[in-house]
Amino acid sequence: MKRIFPSEMNLDPIDFYDQVRTPHVDRPWLLLNMITSIDGSTHISGTSGGLGGPADQRVLGTLRSFADVILVGSGTVHAENYRTPHAPDGESGKRRIERKQDQHPRLAVLSGSGNLDSGIPMFDQDESKGAKPLIYTSENGNENLSENFQEKAEVVTLGVGPVDLSFVLRDLFDRGAKVVLAEGGPSLNHQLVEAQLVDELCLTISPLLVGGESSSIINGPVFSDPHQFQLNGLATEDRFLFCRYLSK
Ligand SMILES: NC(=O)c1ccc[n+]([C@@H]2O[C@H](COP(=O)([O-])OP(=O)(O)OC[C@H]3O[C@@H](n4cnc5c(N)ncnc54)[C@H](OP(=O)(O)O)[C@@H]3O)[C@@H](O)[C@H]2O)c1
Repeated sequence: MKRIFPSEMNLDPIDFYDQVRTPHVDRPWLLLNMITSIDGSTHISGTSGGLGGPADQRVLGTLRSFADVILVGSGTVHAENYRTPHAPDGESGKRRIERKQDQHPRLAVLSGSGNLDSGIPMFDQDESKGAKPLIYTSENGNENLSENFQEKAEVVTLGVGPVDLSFVLRDLFDRGAKVVLAEGGPSLNHQLVEAQLVDELCLTISPLLVGGESSSIINGPVFSDPHQFQLNGLATEDRFLFCRYLSK
């Protein structure tokens, strides 16, 4: 990839994204990664796959290599038929070992309703792929969850109503997570931004105009006070634009 800001340089994605990520005193560093079309769509006919390509996949793999936990909303898990990510290999894997991180990031899904499909591939991982996924849910959601999840996941119940995302991050921190990668979708993103939990935003702009009425990377009411980010890096590969922002 070619970095174009802050200075021009050809580099490997691992060197563009490998930055110091210091956890907070009571929660992990939270990195949000999303891809959009030029016109801001986050999916084509329901999934984000059509927006991406090999360059974007390399970046996704690189970002996952930094994560102790990948946090995702149930809408995305269903829409994208989520799978356990591969263990990072090559230079990303080597650096992960140097940072003494587990081989695989752990998946964590949010579902207040408990209406989760236990047939999604992420719930069928074998033990060699690390710890079982976490499900964060409410008391009602826990009652709705299929019995299949007793073996397939670790369920964490956090009160009634929508799960408080600060509690989720605190729980992940207590489990040893220093970096959490949030992978959407837009409804979850809105809450993370509103709660001021996003430290870093990695945004990929795909060279497509797709039209339609897809949500932007944030789906929810207008923020009373827009959240500010500062541009930390810009890079390009295969006509994709890779933007890295830090919370201001
Ligand atoms: N372009 C990209 O990079 C990208 C990335 C991700 C997703 N997407 C696309 O975005 C779409 C899905 O996004 P979405 O916004 O509809 O859904 P989403 O944000 O993935 O998931 C929303 C669901 O997550 C659960 N949830 C979120 N916050 C919660 C909380 N505080 N407490 C309890 N549960 C909570 C709820 O599940 P329950 O309903 O089970 O309670 C809620 O309905 C798909 O089309 C996908 O392809 C695109």
